[in-house]
Amino acid sequence: MTDCRIHPSILSADFANLEAELRRIHTADAVHVDVMDNHFVPNLTLGLPIVQRLQQVSDLPLDVHLMIEDVDRWGPGFAEAGAQSVTFHAEASNAPVKLARDLRSSGARAAMALRPATPIEPYLDMLPELDMVLIMTVEPGFGGQSFLDITLPKIRRTRAAIEGTGLPIALQVDGGISRDTILRAAEAGADVFVAGSAVYGADEPAAAIDTLRNVVTGTHTPVV
Ligand code: DX5
Ligand code: ZN
Repeated sequence: MTDCRIHPSILSADFANLEAELRRIHTADAVHVDVMDNHFVPNLTLGLPIVQRLQQVSDLPLDVHLMIEDVDRWGPGFAEAGAQSVTFHAEASNAPVKLARDLRSSGARAAMALRPATPIEPYLDMLPELDMVLIMTVEPGFGGQSFLDITLPKIRRTRAAIEGTGLPIALQVDGGISRDTILRAAEAGADVFVAGSAVYGADEPAAAIDTLRNVVTGTHTPVV
């Protein structure tokens, strides 16, 4: 497994200087934007107006992770704002197939996220509606939490199901990804890696991104 895309999360960035913070991650494949409403998760971050500005001031593709209720209503607006991908939580959508189709028809890649205790099995038949599945590797809501190894079997099962479709569906992991944990997630089948504190907590975020990527592609041996 050498496929590897790194999406830094700006949840760990300086919210007063987001334009400059995006320049610090120029080696990233996309920027992960965590939208939280203090209802689906016990935290509040940013919404559509800021996503629209990020889209205007940066060339990095936006990977928008919606941790909000009523996502069937609010999700398509983020696709219309120009996000490359829009991720909704399965637990928050009443009509995930319709929402995925709405996102695609608004020009975004459609992605669905699962909290750590939510199984993939009820959603296997809708994989062809999706461009990416996000397996949360922490409980959503906050950066800086520890990677949950209990999610590894679900990552493996999801990778196997994706291979079964024959479709190029990405498999993203989010939460607790660092140079110490990224290889476990990669070996289980993940190919898109969100990292907040591991990137923005580093002195040189662009170099931290390269380090994470190199751990997966095998050109770097992590210091134990
Ligand atoms: C958590 C967010 C993550 C968060 C990850 O709910 O979805 O994107 O920023 O932060 P780290 O990498 O620090 O666990
Ligand atoms: Zn996220």
